[in-house]
Amino acid sequence: MIDPFGRHISYLRVSVTDRCDFRCVYCMAEDMSFLPKDELLSLEEMERLCKAFIRMGVTKLRLTGGEPLVRRNVMSLIEGLGQYLGNGLEELTLTTNGSQLAKHAQGLAQAGVRRINVSLDTLDEAKFARITRWGRLGQVRDGIAAAQAAGLAIKINMVALKGVNDDEFDTMLEWCGQEGLDLCLIETMPMGEVTHREETHLRLSDVRAELAARWTMLASDYATGGPARYVTVAQTGQRLGFITPFSHNFCESCNRVRLTCTGTLYMCLGQEDAVDLRKPLRASTDDAALEAAINRGIAAKPKGHDFDIRRVAVPRHMSVTGG
Ligand code: 5AD
Ligand code: SF4
Repeated sequence: MIDPFGRHISYLRVSVTDRCDFRCVYCMAEDMSFLPKDELLSLEEMERLCKAFIRMGVTKLRLTGGEPLVRRNVMSLIEGLGQYLGNGLEELTLTTNGSQLAKHAQGLAQAGVRRINVSLDTLDEAKFARITRWGRLGQVRDGIAAAQAAGLAIKINMVALKGVNDDEFDTMLEWCGQEGLDLCLIETMPMGEVTHREETHLRLSDVRAELAARWTMLASDYATGGPARYVTVAQTGQRLGFITPFSHNFCESCNRVRLTCTGTLYMCLGQEDAVDLRKPLRASTDDAALEAAINRGIAAKPKGHDFDIRRVAVPRHMSVTGG
């Protein structure tokens, strides 16, 4: 699959549910309304969709949400998709808030998952409760420990928030060093209405310059096929990544499209362009119409996002299209 700008699309992110057991302040409103349950794709339908994408050239799949592990029976989907590893699929991974990891880490490893991303913005219990509104830090720490015990490589995603966790970058780097985890800092993106986004927005180019005064950052050509730019921190030996949609526009190398749990394919996190795949999926057991719809989507992939922190780029929250 090649889009109009010559980019090869080999990476599909699937939001298996827009629901979550947390309500992070930068991600969701406190009183979120979710997609109606009767519009959800079944797990079997999701697997069939993923299969079609693999056939068409997708080699990397990431399950996201919302929180993917709160979707009932999600492990059956993960096990099903694991069957395609080495058989068209090169990597199966997920982004999780860690709350259910203690339960599922072993199963994930058995299904062929090797790396996961865990969202964790602070190591301070009270602050964690404030940021996530509903989460408990201990639960996530236990989840991370279980994932380590299962042999999964972990990258911590930390959303950088001015006045909230901007005093914790050093602590987090040290902790990740001790635990053998990579760390990736993320700038807040203007998706969906939430409160205080503009005040808490922090430019990562500034953070990076500040960290460079205390930490030796070695150039790294490590790339995961994602938008993060990495360095290796000499003092810890772990990688540190930066996702900077404002200070560095990474769209020119974008290789991904995103599927929602209702079967809508979005071509860009920050744009409205979309095609519905649910209708062609349900119309026939033959995948011809589905593949045509996917190709229509790829042909309409926009050049990039034009985020501006002062206005909401798209009305949908991150939990709909997956971060
Ligand atoms: N801007 C930046 N990151 C966000 N995330 C959720 N909402 C936003 C937002 N508006 C992050 C989560 C998680 C990842 C999937 O995306 O913290 O780490
Ligand atoms: Fe849930 Fe992740 Fe959004 Fe937090 S950032 S509310 S954990 S989907």
